[in-house]
Amino acid sequence: MDEIGWGILATGKIAHSIAADLALVPGARLAAVGSRRLASAEAFAARHGAGQHPAPAAYGSYEELVADPAVDVVYVATPHALHLDHARLAFEAGKHVLCEKPLTLNLAEAEEMVALARQHDRFLMEAMWTACHPVVRRVAADLRAGRFGTPRHFHAELGFRVDAPAEDRMLNPELGASALLDMGIYPLTVAHLFLGEAEELHAVASLSEGGIDLDVALTGRYPGGALATMTASMTSWSSRAAALATDRGRIDLDDFHHPTRATFTPYAEGGSNDVDARREPVHVVGDEPVIGRGYGNEIAEVVRCLRAGLRESPLVPHAQTVALMRQMDDLRAQIGVRYAVDDS
Ligand SMILES: NC(=O)c1ccc[n+]([C@@H]2O[C@H](COP(=O)([O-])OP(=O)(O)OC[C@H]3O[C@@H](n4cnc5c(N)ncnc54)[C@H](OP(=O)(O)O)[C@@H]3O)[C@@H](O)[C@H]2O)c1
Repeated sequence: MDEIGWGILATGKIAHSIAADLALVPGARLAAVGSRRLASAEAFAARHGAGQHPAPAAYGSYEELVADPAVDVVYVATPHALHLDHARLAFEAGKHVLCEKPLTLNLAEAEEMVALARQHDRFLMEAMWTACHPVVRRVAADLRAGRFGTPRHFHAELGFRVDAPAEDRMLNPELGASALLDMGIYPLTVAHLFLGEAEELHAVASLSEGGIDLDVALTGRYPGGALATMTASMTSWSSRAAALATDRGRIDLDDFHHPTRATFTPYAEGGSNDVDARREPVHVVGDEPVIGRGYGNEIAEVVRCLRAGLRESPLVPHAQTVALMRQMDDLRAQIGVRYAVDDS
């Protein structure tokens, strides 16, 4: 596999962001795009394939997209409620899959998707690009090596105000709307990467009239007794900051969603809380450059895995995706958010 041919399934907002970064990744080529509307696929291909030879193919159905022999891997960019059906379509056509987050609506669907990938002997990765981000990876590796001391408390918040009609995927329960599934998954993932798998998680939420969580606050206990507090919001503008306090100082990520670096501020020995006791902050950057908006690094990881013949990525292993999905099922039960698929 010299150059990996990508097929983009759906032409919504994130599909455009991914296509822009895909153009920056060596060894990745936009082979085709599929949409429910041919005109939308054509406009997408013209915008992101300008100057490319051969030009990306444009299809007016997802079925035609997955049947294209030039497509090695299908990137599923539909609303979460449709991920399982569209991943299945791709696997049955013999394609590998990068599927947007959350992988599915619930644990049962996620396990089914992983089983389908195994059954068809294809690569599957959730598009959890944060786990592929060079800064996040560096901080997680340094934490594991004990460079910053022992983690005690992690805090992260992610939110932006959603102004959309009720039928939009951000608010429509039938398409899997949920602040937890859409945004809370990021702080939960970073907590998992920095602290390990949660031992206990709790949630409170404010629900919409349609019964989905617009705002959610989470608390968790992690291995070694480290604690986490996390929020996700669709009604307000959160800071997007994350901070991890350890017994030796504090690591700050000003924008953990799109970090350029982390800063570790060590404190002097002896437990002094005095500002003067702080030593010079240490900036932590990734081992490799951030590609585009950061989605490029996850695309590069998929390219690397496919060339190596892997069926899952060590950066976003199936077990991690499934563990996070199990956590979100449990948290949704606590706040009383259910989807039709939960009863099937
Ligand atoms: N990784 C990230 O940073 C990130 C950011 C945002 C979203 N996401 C995830 O990506 C997925 C898509 O999010 P988005 O913001 O791109 O959504 P979006 O703008 O609403 O686009 C979704 C696309 O899915 C297709 N689709 C097929 N059936 C549909 C239906 N019944 N209703 C609505 N759309 C349908 C449409 O494409 P066609 O008309 O072309 O068929 C539509 O444009 C979600 O799972 C979300 O969680 C990830």
